[in-house]
Amino acid sequence: MEVFQFKSIGVIHTPHTEPGLTPIQPVFASHIQGTVTVDEEYSDGLLDLDKFSHIHLLYLFHEAHETKLRISPYLQDTPHGVFSTRHVCRPNKIGLSIVRLLSVEGGTLHVEDVDMLDGSPLLDIKPFIKRFDVREDVQSGWQEEVSDEVAEKRGLRGYCENHE
Ligand SMILES: C[S@@+](CC[C@H](N)C(=O)[O-])C[C@H]1O[C@@H](n2cnc3c(N)ncnc32)[C@H](O)[C@@H]1O
Repeated sequence: MEVFQFKSIGVIHTPHTEPGLTPIQPVFASHIQGTVTVDEEYSDGLLDLDKFSHIHLLYLFHEAHETKLRISPYLQDTPHGVFSTRHVCRPNKIGLSIVRLLSVEGGTLHVEDVDMLDGSPLLDIKPFIKRFDVREDVQSGWQEEVSDEVAEKRGLRGYCENHE
C-alpha cells in the first residue's frame, strides 16, 4: 500500500458544527454561506477564479473516523457499497462539493450552498466547467429509487427546522 501525504492549502468556514444537522449535499444547502480561506502561499493561484460562478471544493472529512465498505446512505435504509454512496465513512476521507462562488477578496472566497463542517481542511479548488462537468443521459443507480420528496426531507437533515 502506498502512502501519500497531502498538505491542506487552507480552511473552509461554515455555520455547520453538528454533523447530524448538516445538509448532505450543496443542493440541500441552498444559500447557506461560508468562506474559504486560502493560505497566503497559495493565494496567487486564485487569479481568474472570480470569473467562474461555481467551484469544486475538495477537502478532508476531518471529523470522520470510521471506515465501512457497506453502508446505508443518508437517503435510504438499504446498505450499498461505500463507493456507490457519498458517505463520509470512506477509506480516504475526501469530500467533494460544488458550491457557488460569490466573490474573491484576496485569499478569501465567499461561497454559498455549503455542506461541510466548519474547519474542514481544504485540499484543492477547481473551477466548475459546464463543458467538462455537465453530462446528459445520466443513470443514478439506487438514487433513482428515492423520491424527490424523501431526498429533500432526509437531505436537509432538519437544517431548516433548526435555523428558522
Ligand atoms: C454525505 S457528505 C457529502 C459531502 C460532499 N458533498 C461529498 O459528496 O463528498 C455530507 C455530510 O458529511 C458530514 N461532514 C461534512 N464535513 C465533514 C467533516 N469535515 N468531517 C466529518 N464529517 C463531515 C456532514 O454530516 C454532512 O452532512
